[in-house]
Amino acid sequence: TIAEVRSFIAELRAERSDTASGSIVGFVPTMGYLHEGHASLLRRSRQESGISVLSIFVNPIQFGPNEDLDRYPRSEEADLKLAEREGVDVVFLPSVAEMYPEERRTTVTVTGVTERLCGASRPGHFDGVATVVSKLFNIVKPDQAFFGAKDAQQVAVLQKMVNDLNMDIEIIPCPIIREEDGLALSSRNVYLSEEQRREALVLSRSLRTASLRIESDAAVTPELIMAEVTTAIQESPLAEIDYVDLLTFPNLEPLDEQDGFTKLRASEGSIILALAVKFGSTRLIDNTIMKLK
Ligand code: PAJ
Repeated sequence: TIAEVRSFIAELRAERSDTASGSIVGFVPTMGYLHEGHASLLRRSRQESGISVLSIFVNPIQFGPNEDLDRYPRSEEADLKLAEREGVDVVFLPSVAEMYPEERRTTVTVTGVTERLCGASRPGHFDGVATVVSKLFNIVKPDQAFFGAKDAQQVAVLQKMVNDLNMDIEIIPCPIIREEDGLALSSRNVYLSEEQRREALVLSRSLRTASLRIESDAAVTPELIMAEVTTAIQESPLAEIDYVDLLTFPNLEPLDEQDGFTKLRASEGSIILALAVKFGSTRLIDNTIMKLK
């Protein structure tokens, strides 16, 4: 329960307050079905914080009406084993009734950075994420919270939320963990058939080709990059593109059409090339963030 996890974390803080990092609370929020991507966040939290908290909660309010809430994969037992292996101190596994006991009248909405990418194709999704993460932050009261760059827009949204609402929490972005062949780890990868799994490699492959091109070809334009990535993905018969977009990072604004990369290269700004592609009913996302030079 919320009350139990609050008092347990308070006890740990008091017990460990004699060491420098001892009473620092690190937090990794997840929806479970944990894999090496989640494990990398837990490891980072353990390195940097004296107390490591994991939450597992499939948050209904961040799923749209036609999305995969009902079939989202779950594996509580394996998740708890992984948590133990990674030295997690506290696992918070609330029920839906515990998190949303009565009709909710408060929603946290972050504007601007939610207008494009997944914010555009999943209306209401980031309201659900920002609201549940605010609730979890108020329950766990972490000093640091760890998020994967796999969900880069989520990181940008939560960073804005924390700044705008003066939450005293450091958001720590962590790198994308991939399979050896390049596929970004995701709980949703279990839905893929063998053939879809093979074709899904086009995501990481096209991102890599594009980033090499941006690095090495001073004349290349954002339009050309997006067109090339789109063509590469369209060559895969099972892939259906939701979006391919190239934006500034972390503000997630479109690049000036005439100017292309020029100004950003001069100011060493960062960009994100992000994509969402469906294989059958499974929607995969991937991205690459680059500092331009
Ligand atoms: P979930 O999809 O379970 O992801 C939990 C955390 O793991 C997120 O920060 C996500 O970016 C990170 N993650 C997932 N795959 C990763 C990979 N391949 N490499 C690195 N990190 C990876 O994101 C959510 O849950 C929810 O929206 C949540 C924040 C818990 C709010 O409900």
